[in-house]
Amino acid sequence: MCGIVGYVGDRSALPVLLEGLKSLEYRGYDSAGIALPARNGAPGLEVVRRKGKVDELMAAAGRPPGVANGQHAGIGHTRWATCGEPSETNAHPHRDCTGNVAIVHNGIIENHVQLRQRLAAAGHTFASATDSEVIAHLVEVGLATGAGLLEAVRTAASELHGSFAIVAIDARQPGLIVGARVDAPLVLGLGEGEYFFASDVAPLLRYTRRVVWLADGEVAQLSRAGARILGLDGTEHVPASSEVAWDREAAEKAGFPDFMLKEIHEQPRTLRDTLRGRAEPTGELALTELAISPAELAAVNKIFIVACGSSYHAGLVAKYAFERWARIPVEIDVASEFRYRDPVLDGATLVVGISQSGETADTLAAIRYARTQGARTIVITNVVGSSISREADAVLYTHAGPEIGVAATKTLTTQIAALWLLGLWFAEGTGALERAAAADVIRELWRCPELMESFLDGAQGPAALAGIAERFATAPGWLFIGRGVGFPLALEGALKLKEISYLHAEGFAAGEMKHGPIALIDKGMPVVAIATHSRVLGKLISNVEEARARGASVVAIAQHGDERVLEVAADVVAVPQTAELLSPMLDLLPLQLLAYHVAKLRGCDPDRPRNLAKSVTVE
Ligand code: AGP
Repeated sequence: MCGIVGYVGDRSALPVLLEGLKSLEYRGYDSAGIALPARNGAPGLEVVRRKGKVDELMAAAGRPPGVANGQHAGIGHTRWATCGEPSETNAHPHRDCTGNVAIVHNGIIENHVQLRQRLAAAGHTFASATDSEVIAHLVEVGLATGAGLLEAVRTAASELHGSFAIVAIDARQPGLIVGARVDAPLVLGLGEGEYFFASDVAPLLRYTRRVVWLADGEVAQLSRAGARILGLDGTEHVPASSEVAWDREAAEKAGFPDFMLKEIHEQPRTLRDTLRGRAEPTGELALTELAISPAELAAVNKIFIVACGSSYHAGLVAKYAFERWARIPVEIDVASEFRYRDPVLDGATLVVGISQSGETADTLAAIRYARTQGARTIVITNVVGSSISREADAVLYTHAGPEIGVAATKTLTTQIAALWLLGLWFAEGTGALERAAAADVIRELWRCPELMESFLDGAQGPAALAGIAERFATAPGWLFIGRGVGFPLALEGALKLKEISYLHAEGFAAGEMKHGPIALIDKGMPVVAIATHSRVLGKLISNVEEARARGASVVAIAQHGDERVLEVAADVVAVPQTAELLSPMLDLLPLQLLAYHVAKLRGCDPDRPRNLAKSVTVE
């Protein structure tokens, strides 16, 4: 999730671009860059790029205000690395072989390897390790046919698979910029004789509130003369503009009151982005980024998963799937224990570390320790170039984009998805799972984003949760119970509530209740039960009845219309049905929303909870 800006008009373009990037920094801060026509009509482009935050770029590119140098158009980018380490070489804008064309891109190009090979064979030279750079060279190919920039970007975009928002500039056509989008946001700002591109409205608001939300498969050319929009098929489209009411802060939160709620609603998209290019909706699986051969895989006789907090819960969810699909023993450890308990590791052990930030000290040290013991290591992280990504034999990145809220939401669901892909890849690679069976799981996984949208956008679910939160926001203690993959979700539900509402909450394996925790229950105590479809649902329902018999007020997360659950629970939050092992993708949504609403009702800041940091870099 990078930030893109573009400008054409009478103002000096540079400050417009730099300020615009500053307001998009929440989308990514690995590197930043701008491209403008060279100063005072000189040939070529002026391109400035820096690793790190926009301030670095401002320091390098900034100049006294009002000095336009004839530069009245330009493009800019702030990066969240997905393909290619954070560096100046991988920073956008990327250029073509002539140096006259520059592009900025947000998204994931799934077929970049094939395009790069074809272009290289045709004599193009590449300067970066990014997927995005192929776009500059494809535009170059189009321009070489004599086409204008609009047409060249249209044909280039037609060759790309994946998600993209692109903006391009050509030094030889300094008065215009061209953008295109498929499955990544790009909005046009319509000013008086000046026009803007941006990834969201935040950078536009100081200049205009009149915008056009570019639709998927549209290409737009902006010049002082106005905006012209085409479909990827070349047909003319009439721009439909609208007025934006948001202020800048609201814009950064896409109109949500908090980043956490925005990030909860981003999960269908981040799940798609994490599956993209790895698992096809048709069922094919290709984890090319995992440089471990099938022979090495076959040598593995045990898997350890190590992580902390919500990442640990992701690992616990994955354990159920790994063992079911790959028939291999999986041990899961909190990292702070793993590194000191002298676990039995050797060359036949695979240690999987999970850390969204990639900087958690305990998980980092656990991976380093595993390597000293000769184990193979794979890490799942959301941050390209993070410390943990440099420690392991192989890295699988989640594509959740930057997570601003301290409470892990979209990074957790994308971790679970990445772990499932790893489990399927492992199971297929060792022959434990038939290709067809794996394809069935992948097809069902690709149904999840839509099911998640139907829950999040539905009236029932979120509204019911707000009501339940209202009734129990003052309850001193909460219990969360689950069985099977519902058990780690019970732990996660309790953690979410604790960390953002500061209420006491505990998660248990439901079967464990009668061995002690049931003593905690008194009249009206909220007990949240993860009661979706599973082979142990009947057992879970008996545990719910035991809790109810002691006066608990049961809130059940269940499938639509499941009569058995309706009978035993005071409140039922209905979620769409999917396969048992994949149900965490749906069941986590109500748990996140419940914690969020309780925190808000208690006047807590869900994005910046007390006593917590987004990344714990000390032991
Ligand atoms: C979860 O909401 C918390 N932010 C915390 O438990 C977190 O999961 C834990 O600190 C691990 O962080 P990591 O994934 O960056 O390693």
